[in-house]
Amino acid sequence: MTDWPIHGTISGPIVMIGFGSIGRGTLPLIERHFKFDKSRFVVIDPDDADRKLLDERGIRFVQAAVTRENYRDLLKPLLTEGGGQGFCVNLSVDTSSVDLMEFCREIGVLYIDTVVEPWVGFYWDTSAGPAARTNYALRETMLAAKRRKPGGTTAVSTCGANPGMVSWFVKQALVNIASDLGMQFEEPTTREGWAKLMREAGVKGVHIAERDTQRAKQPKPANVFVNTWSVEGFLSEGMQPAELGWGTHEKWMPENGRTHETGCGAAIYLLQPGANTRVRSWCPTLGAQYGFLVTHNESISIADYYTVRDGAGKAVFRPTCHYAYHPANDAVLSLHELFGNGGHIQPEHHILDENEIVDGIDELGVLLFGHKNNAYWYGSQLSIEETRRIAPYQNATGMQVTSAVLAGMVWALENPNAGIVEADEMDYKRCLEVQMPYLGPVQGFYTDWNPTTDREKLFPEDVDYNEPWSFRNVLVR
Ligand SMILES: NC(=O)c1ccc[n+]([C@@H]2O[C@H](COP(=O)([O-])OP(=O)(O)OC[C@H]3O[C@@H](n4cnc5c(N)ncnc54)[C@H](O)[C@@H]3O)[C@@H](O)[C@H]2O)c1
Repeated sequence: MTDWPIHGTISGPIVMIGFGSIGRGTLPLIERHFKFDKSRFVVIDPDDADRKLLDERGIRFVQAAVTRENYRDLLKPLLTEGGGQGFCVNLSVDTSSVDLMEFCREIGVLYIDTVVEPWVGFYWDTSAGPAARTNYALRETMLAAKRRKPGGTTAVSTCGANPGMVSWFVKQALVNIASDLGMQFEEPTTREGWAKLMREAGVKGVHIAERDTQRAKQPKPANVFVNTWSVEGFLSEGMQPAELGWGTHEKWMPENGRTHETGCGAAIYLLQPGANTRVRSWCPTLGAQYGFLVTHNESISIADYYTVRDGAGKAVFRPTCHYAYHPANDAVLSLHELFGNGGHIQPEHHILDENEIVDGIDELGVLLFGHKNNAYWYGSQLSIEETRRIAPYQNATGMQVTSAVLAGMVWALENPNAGIVEADEMDYKRCLEVQMPYLGPVQGFYTDWNPTTDREKLFPEDVDYNEPWSFRNVLVR
């Protein structure tokens, strides 16, 4: 197919940092949807495993790690030479998003990433306490950068599938729920307006409810961590404390739950790793499921964005928000193996590529619950078969991420002076319009399931039937 819509022109160099599963998948989308000068496209990665894809296109490859010490000297010429406005697309691990975005803004270069990533070492720093290793703390560093220099050159923070696209889904889901409830409302144009709409619709919380059913052709061997996207990325976030945006309807907190003393105050964390914390949730195809409460930026940003405060600044409404991730079965087995073995990480890591998968979908959406119609899931049900048909070098999980990167890049080009933004602050309709062709079926489903359903059949449990959607019922204990 050659008639892909061109969404914009990148007038300066494109520098892609990181050429792993997401970088590889983003490459063909950049080629399809932007006008740019190929001779000024550079990819930087310390690993040259996939440089063939670049060589055959004549794209320059710099084999190097971007580090705290070298980032300014390494990146400045690459991002500025030849004039025009450059675009830095950060799809790496172990590079500081905040340092890179601040530097790009300093030199007038557009920037996008998919996670607030720290420099190498952060996730595994045993001398730092759990609070210091949270995404809450990482997000606060990004918010501080935003406060230090409001406005200016656009830097899009955390714009993958989740964090990223799911924030656009929350808005669409909320509009659908409010319409189905027969509410009279105008679509909000401000953060305050969206928060008020969520409160008035009676939504108590949001699960980022994902079920990845992609099955590998080969069964997982012992001592190999298998995943459908970055093993390193998943292990890093999975070993951070479990975290969730903390709703105003919550009356009970687990004993190992902790609040933060500074910052936006929208989230709590647990003194246990998210990848070993299970929650009850629901996705359309297979219904009720256990998911892992792995920390993510959107758990905090969504809770923060939809907070309603009174005149004194006290939060009078906030949704609970967290990830409920059922990864591919091989990843579930990999986690079981890892935690059973004292948390020792397997010596071998493997990301399943599109040719190693028999079948399955990545069902990734948002479950808005607690309102009069109980709960509504809205999201993408992208299959591996469709992914293979529409774009090369990726599986369904990757495609949901790379197409969100594409949408974020388009939005940045159309809004080049918006400062540092999170997906919650972007135009969800425009972003979803760009992304939709890559998401497979995007649909909404109501369910009458809640986390008290089918409980206490054989054994007594601590269940709060008065507040079915409380975290007390959601957390598997
Ligand atoms: N928001 C989302 O939905 C979402 C989804 C998937 C991945 N991600 C994030 O995207 C990033 C990439 O994911 P992936 O699946 O492609 O991971 P990956 O492990 O496949 O690739 C990461 C790449 O970064 C490179 N790299 C490591 N250190 C580097 C350095 N110092 N400088 C430059 N490159 C370096 C690695 O060599 C590797 O090629 C991760 O941070 C991940 O957490 C976000």
